[in-house]
Amino acid sequence: MLDAQYWNDRHKDSDTPWNLRTISPPLKAYMDQLEDKQVRILIPGAGHAHEARYLVSLGFEDVTICDISEVAIGHIRSELSSISCIHYICGDFFTLEGEYDVILEQTFFCALDPLLRESYAQKMAALLSPKGTLAGLLFGVEFPFAGPPFGGQMDEYKILFSKYLYIHEMSMCYNSIAPRSGNEIFFICKKKVFGEKLTHYFLFFRMMTLSCAVFRDIKERF
Ligand SMILES: C[S@@+](CC[C@H](N)C(=O)[O-])C[C@H]1O[C@@H](n2cnc3c(N)ncnc32)[C@H](O)[C@@H]1O
Repeated sequence: MLDAQYWNDRHKDSDTPWNLRTISPPLKAYMDQLEDKQVRILIPGAGHAHEARYLVSLGFEDVTICDISEVAIGHIRSELSSISCIHYICGDFFTLEGEYDVILEQTFFCALDPLLRESYAQKMAALLSPKGTLAGLLFGVEFPFAGPPFGGQMDEYKILFSKYLYIHEMSMCYNSIAPRSGNEIFFICKKKVFGEKLTHYFLFFRMMTLSCAVFRDIKERF
């Protein structure tokens, strides 16, 4: 069972092969182009929280890291204790509350039981602010072993994420680290906003009425 005990044991035993010991290049490139340093950023399943360190070095002022493992949170807290703009949440992502402008995904989705994927997408949508963005990396490959990590395919991610979020970008990653090259997908999703949905319905309705008027006109002429 992939509960707090499981993740605590992995962190205690330093059984953390996912740890890149630095920020991943695709996330670095994404963070480098974020201009507004006041945005509220969430890193769920943060582990060693390399993203948080990098964000702080760029001048971001509101970074929240969440991890279910108290061991992981304990390590990061002691390492980064001098940095006041990092907030720590030791708890289950699925019970998180609050609102974030940017949420970063880095080997958290693949660490979850695949049965939770629907809840993940739903929860992400709930945590994003109206103009919020979820961005990060997903494995675009099925692994020949029992997870975690659990793999997947872009087509299935598109179906899942589009239920709750607008997919702004989802493509194979060009700047993965060598061992993950060809196996990673970079994605950016935006919160679905009710007003935007209404605008789409309105535009669709308007197009339908215009088309009907054109057809009526053609029919009358002939
Ligand atoms: C594969 S590790 C990735 C860590 C980090 N993102 C990285 O790439 O180095 C997954 C992390 O998610 C945490 N985790 C697993 N389930 C969680 C949950 N439901 N809520 C919050 N954190 C969770 C684990 O403790 C672990 O640190």
